[in-house]
Amino acid sequence: MEDAQLYVSANGLQRRDALLVLSEYLPQMEWKEDGETVLDVGCGSGDVTRNLLVPLLPQVKQVVGVDLSQEMVTYASKTFHHDSINFHQLDIERAVQPRQVFPDGFTKVFSFYCLHWVQEQRSCLNNIYQLLQPGGEALLVFLAKNPLFTMYQNMSLKTRWQQYMKDVKSYISVYQDKTDPAQVMADLAEDVGFQILSCEAPELEFVFDNINYLKNAIKAVNPFLKRIPKEDQEAFLKECLAELVLLQGCQQEDGSAVARYNLMIAHLHRSQ
Ligand SMILES: C[S@@+](CC[C@H](N)C(=O)[O-])C[C@H]1O[C@@H](n2cnc3c(N)ncnc32)[C@H](O)[C@@H]1O
Repeated sequence: MEDAQLYVSANGLQRRDALLVLSEYLPQMEWKEDGETVLDVGCGSGDVTRNLLVPLLPQVKQVVGVDLSQEMVTYASKTFHHDSINFHQLDIERAVQPRQVFPDGFTKVFSFYCLHWVQEQRSCLNNIYQLLQPGGEALLVFLAKNPLFTMYQNMSLKTRWQQYMKDVKSYISVYQDKTDPAQVMADLAEDVGFQILSCEAPELEFVFDNINYLKNAIKAVNPFLKRIPKEDQEAFLKECLAELVLLQGCQQEDGSAVARYNLMIAHLHRSQ
């Protein structure tokens, strides 16, 4: 996903969840009086970092937002400038020795709606561990399970679209088929060295007031769309939407659409 402008206009669900989780978890975290150094992994367009995270942080010295996509980083730097925030390009999955990039590390690491894009969860968690100072805390929030991923799978089997979706597996949350995704994540995080303060994957609901809002939300995060010839993109999106509605039975009589999914919320501590 690289269309930052579209994402900012269609990320109501992601913003709702960031707010929900921050309201519950920020009061549970320990805050240093002399201010915190904060990392936001997968900051995307930067609006959640700038407009939700930073205003809610009780103590902050410096915030860094990192993202895989240079286009997102450039957009975030231009559009969501703030004296305490810097945006950088970084792949949290493939980075080697990230402390060479950020030698002082961070006292808090946040991540919203990013880690379901990461297949190598161990290396990603290990990098987050390395980037945290001893005593630091991480709050990682992402999709554990979502019918959206089943929709991608089903679309990739269709003759018309399969050529554009050969790598569909790499866009599906690794927790999608797990019976107890939170336990799998907790076990992995513990193995990497974290103390698990809590890890859960509750089912949440979000109501899109009309089906077009859902269509835009799907469009904004769809990793396959840009591979499809322009003249076929609308047909692809319509089929994605129809497939999702079929899977979820999510369209209501009043025209609204309900999305149901499991959100991973992992609150982790690095003790040394
Ligand atoms: C759906 S956006 C979320 C943006 C923002 N955090 C929010 O909550 O609105 C997911 C972002 O994760 C980024 N991303 C995906 N894989 C990544 C990786 N390995 N390292 C860093 N960022 C990654 C994508 O480029 C994208 O901008």
